[in-house]
Amino acid sequence: MLIKRNPNGIDIPFSSEITPRAVFEARRTFIKQIAFGSVAGGALLDLLSREAFAQGAGAQKLAAKTNPAFVVMDKTTAYKDATSYNNFYEFGTDKTDPSHYAGTLKPRPWTVAIEGEVKKPMTLDIDSLLKLAPLEERVYRLRCVEGWSMVIPWIGYSFAELIKKVEPTGNAKYVEFISLADKKQMPGLRSPVLEWPYVEGLRLDEANHPLTLLTLGMYGEVLPNQNGAPVRIVVPWKYGFKSAKSIVKIRFIKDQPKTAWNIAAPQEYGFYSNVNPEVDHPRWSQATERRIGEDSFFKPKRKTLMFNGYSNVASLYTGMDLKKFF
Ligand code: MTE
Repeated sequence: MLIKRNPNGIDIPFSSEITPRAVFEARRTFIKQIAFGSVAGGALLDLLSREAFAQGAGAQKLAAKTNPAFVVMDKTTAYKDATSYNNFYEFGTDKTDPSHYAGTLKPRPWTVAIEGEVKKPMTLDIDSLLKLAPLEERVYRLRCVEGWSMVIPWIGYSFAELIKKVEPTGNAKYVEFISLADKKQMPGLRSPVLEWPYVEGLRLDEANHPLTLLTLGMYGEVLPNQNGAPVRIVVPWKYGFKSAKSIVKIRFIKDQPKTAWNIAAPQEYGFYSNVNPEVDHPRWSQATERRIGEDSFFKPKRKTLMFNGYSNVASLYTGMDLKKFF
């Protein structure tokens, strides 16, 4: 486990240790491409205006009633932090890349195809998704596998609502979420850092759990591009990478899907990826986390909670060894 200790004894995983080498190299190439103007048109002015757009200038409001059953009491992360410290490798591997470059993503028009083992396959546009069930605001913790976390007021409804509409057949055991992969809109796709499109998956009963949120907004507005506009999934008891962004296809399938991070590093990222402080990542501990916005050298890190504190999901895993199924 490659973790260094600072003089206060606080564990600090250094980014060069957290980040696989391929990711580091892709980051360097991406920065060079930006410097030489070969990414997305390049002109500085254009980049600046796109950044302003990505930062949420003029974002469309989205009304939703808060559902108190799904609100954690922790302090909400500042909008600025939640929209400028992101993982969205389709726009680069650095935390600030998505807020700088995701302005090229066009979240409308947009459709999501729902297919596979369902009695009623359908393709829904964003307006239909917005109307499919009443929108709720839910304040969830999101913990990244890298050891940081945020608390975000998301807007959406339980993914179970969509499952009801499409009526899975008896063969459907898993749900696969497939993100957009369009080189014209996503400069990061030029780098083979992950296999594109980004794919994630859940077991059908996990997808049906009321906490699993089909997400269309945050902080009272539609999703900013860098957070996965116009539609993403949020699975709060799992590491952040299970929460696929900018989804264009949802497939109900018989067999466990191959997922982007599992393909990239199977020994590090399992299919389940439940937040579990007892299972170390092969290169660092998962026992604690740094809450974004609470950064201070003297602030001790928070203890990571089993299932990120969402203990009522435990029954989904009865009888499973979660060290083996990590
Ligand atoms: N979805 C896509 N399509 N591409 C990505 O790179 N990164 C994942 C997840 N969903 C990712 C993605 C990871 S690693 C995390 S931690 C969360 O998005 C981050 O979500 P946020 O930027 O909204 O906090």
